[in-house]
Amino acid sequence: MASWCPPPPSCSLLLHLLVVAALLVPSHGSSSNATDTLTASRPLSGDQKLISQRGKFALGFFQPQAEGSGGRWYVGIWYNKIPVQTIVWVANREKPISDPASSSLTISDDGNIVIRQSKSIVWSSNSTNEAFNSTIAVLLDTGNLVVRHKSNSSHVVWQSFDDMTDTWLPGNKLSFNKVTGVSNRIISWKNNGDPAPGMFTVEMDPNGSKQYIILWNSSMVYWDTGNWTGSSFPNMPELSRANTYPNTPYTYQFVDNDQETYFTYNVTDDRILSRHVIGVSGQTQSSVWVEAAQAWVVYFSQPKANCDVYGFCGAYSKCSGSALSSSCSCLKGFSERDPNSWNLGDPTAGCRRNVQLQCSSKGLEKEKQDRFYTINSVKLPDKAQTSIEGTSNQNCQSACLNNCSCTAYSYNGTCSLWYAELLNLQDTIDGSLDNIHIRVAASELPDSRTKKRWIARVAVGGVAALGCAVIALYFLLRRRRRINSMNLAKGSLISFKYNDLQFLTKNFSEILGVGAFGSVFKGVLPDTTIMAVKKLEGLRQGEKQFRAEVSTIGTIQHVNLIQLLGFCSEGTKRLLVYEYMPNGSLDHHLFRSNRAPLSWSTRYQIATGVARGLTYLHEECRDCIIHCDIKPENILLGEYLIPKVADFGLAKLLGRDFSRVLTSMRGTIGYLAPEWISGEAITTKADVFSYGMMLFEIISGKRNNMHTGTSANTFFPMLVVRKLVEGDVQTLIDSELVNDVDLRELERACMVACWCVQDSESSRPTMGEIVQILEGLVNVEMPPVPRYLQVLAEGVKPSEVSNLS
Ligand SMILES: *[C@@H]1O[C@H](CO)[C@@H](O)[C@H](O)[C@H]1NC(C)=O
Ligand SMILES: *[C@@H]1O[C@H](CO)[C@@H](O)[C@H](O)[C@H]1NC(C)=O
Ligand SMILES: *[C@@H]1O[C@H](CO)[C@@H](O)[C@H](O)[C@H]1NC(C)=O
Ligand SMILES: *[C@@H]1O[C@H](CO)[C@@H](O)[C@H](O)[C@H]1NC(C)=O
Ligand SMILES: *[C@@H]1O[C@H](CO)[C@@H](O)[C@H](O)[C@H]1NC(C)=O
Ligand SMILES: *[C@@H]1O[C@H](CO)[C@@H](O)[C@H](O)[C@H]1NC(C)=O
Ligand SMILES: *[C@@H]1O[C@H](CO)[C@@H](O)[C@H](O)[C@H]1NC(C)=O
Ligand SMILES: *[C@@H]1O[C@H](CO)[C@@H](O)[C@H](O)[C@H]1NC(C)=O
Ligand SMILES: *[C@@H]1O[C@H](CO)[C@@H](O)[C@H](O)[C@H]1NC(C)=O
Ligand SMILES: *[C@@H]1O[C@H](CO)[C@@H](O)[C@H](O)[C@H]1NC(C)=O
Repeated sequence: MASWCPPPPSCSLLLHLLVVAALLVPSHGSSSNATDTLTASRPLSGDQKLISQRGKFALGFFQPQAEGSGGRWYVGIWYNKIPVQTIVWVANREKPISDPASSSLTISDDGNIVIRQSKSIVWSSNSTNEAFNSTIAVLLDTGNLVVRHKSNSSHVVWQSFDDMTDTWLPGNKLSFNKVTGVSNRIISWKNNGDPAPGMFTVEMDPNGSKQYIILWNSSMVYWDTGNWTGSSFPNMPELSRANTYPNTPYTYQFVDNDQETYFTYNVTDDRILSRHVIGVSGQTQSSVWVEAAQAWVVYFSQPKANCDVYGFCGAYSKCSGSALSSSCSCLKGFSERDPNSWNLGDPTAGCRRNVQLQCSSKGLEKEKQDRFYTINSVKLPDKAQTSIEGTSNQNCQSACLNNCSCTAYSYNGTCSLWYAELLNLQDTIDGSLDNIHIRVAASELPDSRTKKRWIARVAVGGVAALGCAVIALYFLLRRRRRINSMNLAKGSLISFKYNDLQFLTKNFSEILGVGAFGSVFKGVLPDTTIMAVKKLEGLRQGEKQFRAEVSTIGTIQHVNLIQLLGFCSEGTKRLLVYEYMPNGSLDHHLFRSNRAPLSWSTRYQIATGVARGLTYLHEECRDCIIHCDIKPENILLGEYLIPKVADFGLAKLLGRDFSRVLTSMRGTIGYLAPEWISGEAITTKADVFSYGMMLFEIISGKRNNMHTGTSANTFFPMLVVRKLVEGDVQTLIDSELVNDVDLRELERACMVACWCVQDSESSRPTMGEIVQILEGLVNVEMPPVPRYLQVLAEGVKPSEVSNLS
C-alpha cells in the first residue's frame, strides 16, 4: 500500500555541502558598501564590517551568542555566509569592550592595527615590525587578516594567522619556530560565552619530536598525535584515510627543518567550509559546514572520549559516559564551584566541599570525626601516593585520617593516599574493581548509630510514607483514567504528558538501549501495548518545529519502517514513543555468539525488507528522507523477524545537533560513505553505501572486521570481491549455513553489496534497483573493485574500532 507523506517545512534531509556560494543571500546592512580593506582614514566602528573579497569571511564587532556574555564585545572574524555564528579569530580575547559604537578598529600611526575605546588603546597587533603611516589591513578569503605595506603587498607586518585563537583554518600552520622558540598554537575559549584563553592548548611538541600535542594548563600533555610517519600520524588514522582516498579535497603537510617544524592542512575545493577547533571541553574537532542541515558536522575529534581530557570535570567531580556522550557530576558532599560556567559547558572549575573537614582527629569524639564513603568501580584519580603504613584497610584509613591534607584513600593490598584535589576520577564501564574512599565531614554522612534518633525517624517516616502512598494511589488511579481515555487510534500521534510517560515507563526504569540521541526505555500502555520511549538528549529545538518534524515522521507508514506512536514536548523535554520490537536489533542476531545463526532465507528476507523500507524513504515519500545512519543497530526485528528500519527522520529533527549523529559514527566508520569525509554532497547514495557495508555483514554473519590487521584477505568485503571474480562465492558463507544457501541469491547479494560500496555515488544503484535485483527481476554485471574498500582494508587501526561492542 502506498502511503503518502506530507511535505515537511523544507525538504532538507538532502545534505548538500555548502556548494554554490553565489546562491547565498548577501548579508544585510552596510555590507553593500563593505570593503575588505581597513585604512587609517577609514576606521571600523559599531556594526560596520570588513568582508573578504569573495565574501567568505567578515570582520567586525561581535558578542558571543551564549548566555551570560551580554555587555561584552569583541573584534573578530567569522564566516560571513552562514546563519550560525562561527567565530574563527578574536583580537581582544582577554579585553572585551563595552560599547562598539564608541569604539573603533583602526590603523595607528605606528602601523599596527588597534582597537580604541574612547581614547585608550584596548588591543594592538603590537608588531615591532614598525611601518609608520604606511600600512593597511586586508581581510583575505582564507580568513587571514593581514597588515601590510600600502604599496607592497608582500611586505607583511603582521597577520592573524600568526596569532590564532581557538581555530586552525585551512592553509594555516601549527608551527614551532626553533630559532625564536615561538609556537603558533590554538588555545580554547574559557567557555562558550568567553573567548579568553581556557585550559587547553594544541601545539607542536616544543621538545622537537615530530608530533603535535594537546595540553592542559600549558603543562600536562593528555593527548598526542604520535610521531609523523612520513604520511600520517599514528593516532590520527582518519587523516591517513583522507590522504589516500583519491577524491578527498584535503591535503596535509608536515615539515621539519632547521628553522621550524609545522603541520598544515588545506582544502583544495574552495567551496567547502572546514575548520579545526580546540573546544572548551578540551577535545579538538574537525568539522565541515553542511548547508542543508544548517549545521557544522564533526567528522573527527581527539581525544575520542571527553572523559580522557585531562581535568575535564575539574576537582572532586566524576566523569561518566562513553565516547559519544559524557557528563560530570560532583561527588557526594561537594557542589559545583561555579554553576554558571557549568551551565555554559565548562565544568573544569570542578566542585568544592559543602562542609570543611574537621581535620584533627585527636581527642575528638568519634561522631565528629571526618568520615569516608566508598565509590565502587572507578578509574582512580591522578597523583596517588602509596603509603607503607597502610598495611590493612583500617590502617590505610587511619593514615589518611591522621593527615589533614589527605582527601581520599584506596586499598587493594597496597594503600594509596591522595593529598590534593581529586582529578580525573572516572566511572569505568569495563568492570574495573578499583574502589576509592572519599573523605568528608561527619555531617555529610547520615549517622545511623544513634539509636534514639533512628527510632524517631522511623516513626515519623512511617506516617509520612503512608500519606505518600495514599496520595500516590489517588494520582495513579486518576492518571490511569486519563490515559485510558486517550485516543489510541492508529495513525494519529499521541501527544503524551511527561508525567504520563514517567508513569508508563515506571519512571524510566527498564532500559532497552542507549544510542547517540539518548536512551530508549520500555513502557506499557493501559491496553497492554508495549512501547519504546526514546528520550532525546540535549535537543535545543523549539517546540513548534519539533512538532512539525514529528508529525511528518508520524505519517510515514511502511511495513519495513518503525512506526512512531506519539511524542512528548514539554519545556526542554523531548521524547518519542515508538512501537516496540520484541526481537531487538539485527546486530544481536548477527553477532552474538550465543544465538543460533539466522538462516539464509531469513537473512535474505531481512536484506530485501530493509531495502524496501529505504526505497520508501528515498523514493516514495513526496520529499525524500536520507537516513544517514544505516547500521545493524538501527534495524529492528519484529514478529517473524520482519525487519524495520529505525531512527529515520531524526537527522532532520536534530537539526544542529545532527553533528552528534555523525560524531557517533566514529566507532562505526566502516558504514560511512567516503563522501562524508571527502566533503562532497551527501545524497541518498550515502545510505546505499552504508546498506552495502551492512549487507556484507548480513552475508557473513560477522562484523566487517577492520582491525584484524593490514591484510586485505581478512577484510570480508575485499574477500567477496575476489570470490566473485573467481566464481567461488559459496565459500563465503558461514559453514553452518552451507546446505541451506541458495547460491543464486548469495551471488546476487554479493553483487549488490559490491555495487553499493562503489567509490563514485553515480556508480551505486538506487535502493529501488536493489530491491529489483534482490527479487531476481533484474540482472547485474560484475562490479569493479572499489578503491575505498582497499583503503579501509589497509588503513584502519584497531584504536578506531575500539568502541564497537
Ligand atoms: C555607501 O557609501 C556612500 C558613499 O560613501 C554613502 O553615501 C552611503 O550612505 C553608503 N551606504 C551605506 C548603506 O552605508
Ligand atoms: C605590546 O607589547 C608590549 C611589550 O611586548 C606590552 O608591554 C604592551 O602591553 C602590549 N600592548 C598591547 C596593547 O597589547
Ligand atoms: C604619521 O602621521 C602623523 C599625523 O598623521 C604624524 O604626526 C607623524 O609624525 C607621522 N609619523 C611618521 C613616522 O611619519
Ligand atoms: C616588498 O616587500 C618585500 C618584503 O619586505 C621586499 O622583499 C621587496 O623588496 C619589496 N618590494 C618593493 C618593490 O619595495
Ligand atoms: C618535554 O620535555 C620536558 C622536560 O624533559 C618534559 O617535562 C615534557 O613532558 C616534555 N614534553 C613532551 C610533550 O614530551
Ligand atoms: C617520537 O620521537 C622522539 C624523538 O624525536 C622519541 O624520543 C620518541 O620516543 C618518539 N615517540 C614514539 C612514540 O615513538
Ligand atoms: C595551572 O598552572 C599554574 C602555574 O603553572 C598554577 O599556578 C595553577 O594553579 C594551575 N591551575 C590549576 C587549575 O591547576
Ligand atoms: C589551499 O588551497 C587553495 C585552493 O582552495 C589554494 O588557493 C591555496 O593556495 C592553498 N593554500 C596553501 C597554503 O597551500
Ligand atoms: C601530610 O602529608 C603530606 C604529603 O605526604 C606531608 O607533606 C605532610 O607533612 C603531612 N602532614 C602531616 C601533619 O603529617
Ligand atoms: C593496587 O593499586 C596500585 C595503585 O593503583 C596498583 O599499582 C597495584 O597494581 C594494585 N594492586 C593490585 C593487587 O591490584
